[in-house]
Amino acid sequence: MRIPDPALVVLVGPSGAGKSTWAAARYRREEVVSSDALRGVVGSGPHDLDATEEAFTLLERIVDARLARGLTTVVDTLGLDAERRSRWLLAARGAGLPAVLVLMDTPDAECRRRNSSRDRPVPASALAGQLRRHRELVRAAEAEGWDLVHRVEPDTGRVADSAAERTVHRTTPERRTSQGLRVVLQVSRFPWGEDPAGWMAAIARAADEAGFAGLALMDHLIQIPQVDRAWEPIPEPWVTLGLVAGLGTGLSLGTLVTPVTFRPAGITAKAAATLDALTGGRAFVGVGAGWWAREHAAYGLDLPPARERLDALAAAIETMRALWAPGTKAYDGQRVSLPETTCYPRPAGRIPVIVGGSGERRTLRIAAELADGCNVPSDLETLDRKVDVLRAHCRAVGRDPAEVAVTVLDLPVVGRDRDDTWARVERQRGRSPAAAFARRTNAGTPADQRDRYGVLADRGVDTVFVALRDLAGPEDVAALAPLLA
Ligand code: UTP
Ligand code: MG
Repeated sequence: MRIPDPALVVLVGPSGAGKSTWAAARYRREEVVSSDALRGVVGSGPHDLDATEEAFTLLERIVDARLARGLTTVVDTLGLDAERRSRWLLAARGAGLPAVLVLMDTPDAECRRRNSSRDRPVPASALAGQLRRHRELVRAAEAEGWDLVHRVEPDTGRVADSAAERTVHRTTPERRTSQGLRVVLQVSRFPWGEDPAGWMAAIARAADEAGFAGLALMDHLIQIPQVDRAWEPIPEPWVTLGLVAGLGTGLSLGTLVTPVTFRPAGITAKAAATLDALTGGRAFVGVGAGWWAREHAAYGLDLPPARERLDALAAAIETMRALWAPGTKAYDGQRVSLPETTCYPRPAGRIPVIVGGSGERRTLRIAAELADGCNVPSDLETLDRKVDVLRAHCRAVGRDPAEVAVTVLDLPVVGRDRDDTWARVERQRGRSPAAAFARRTNAGTPADQRDRYGVLADRGVDTVFVALRDLAGPEDVAALAPLLA
């Protein structure tokens, strides 16, 4: 069972039940508010019962402060006081956070055994009283109004075997995860320092090793403000993919997305056909209509009105397809006519074309008509809406919706563990409140992302392009391996 996050989590269990151990395995130290620890802060140590009142005064203030910021808060006390529980429950409601009760179902004998082997055991009579009150609460808990009552069976309180979680399973030859997804690393920032080629090769090798299905490069002429500062490197993608093609990985290689305003479609067709030939059929082309005025102006390129750019997008796909098709005959199509289609080397196979862009009326219509894939945002609300529109366009143009793969671009904050995740949230959130930023960026571990990808797969997503907002080097890519199992 998954515990919502953020949430208020109230632990309940007698001494030695394993509450603190359970919390430490799942939450950051700062997220756990412990009466024992606070006794140690205001008193002589965790067992200083004279400090109880002040410790709880502090505890309540900390709980309120954290909840008000929408931050996950784990209350580590015996949890047996009904009045306190109802206070915390109300505080969570007031903050709009789910309230979770975690009941430790540790057998009495085990609690006694652990208690007696501790430095400072609770007196046997006190423990007996706790065990009795705990039993009563277990029966009554459901009626208290918690959003979730989570029972921890004995032994599941153990820290999950992280070695097992980290096992890398190489995907099948077509590189799908066990959830049925292709997961492609999208690289949009290139902090390669003094060694561009070495950095790029290391990123690609790490992606290959981790089991990614492919590598996609962003195509911009100036680094976009959503990613980094304008003077950070943003290399020409087809040249850069040429370097990666020479590494002998099994990765599919392409762009996400190439604006049709940058290069005549024939030149993109030539680049992709060459890449496909060099990689034995692993090229793909993401295409879009282009949008950023500044880079067009700076490089002397036209940025016509949206309607014309969308016309150009449809024409570009038709041109590429014509040039990639067998033979060299003249092409006379719906939007494009070419006197001959002599494009050698031929691609090794069919090069998938993925349409990206934010419009729904025309962009998704072009995808429905002409593309092999359609790239949309990964948040479920937008995804569901766009997929509905895409399917409707498919019906309207008489295309089988199954022929247009749904792909998503996903930009999560991923950390090795909770501590690392929250450190990254803190570094990247700017002026956004931490909890809101974490929610918006689906901040979590690779295992959390994997759970989310299961939902995307259930929604019919074929490919996830995942981009790390703070990609620094190959170790960040390698850390994503559990996501690809
Ligand atoms: P905890 O210190 O986690 O218990 O574990 P607790 O519920 O928070 O206890 P109080 O209320 O603060 O006193 C107690 C002992 O049991 C061991 C821990 O290592 C610790 O020594 N333990 C815990 C296990 O051996 N296995 C477990 O699954 C959990
Ligand atoms: Mg404890």
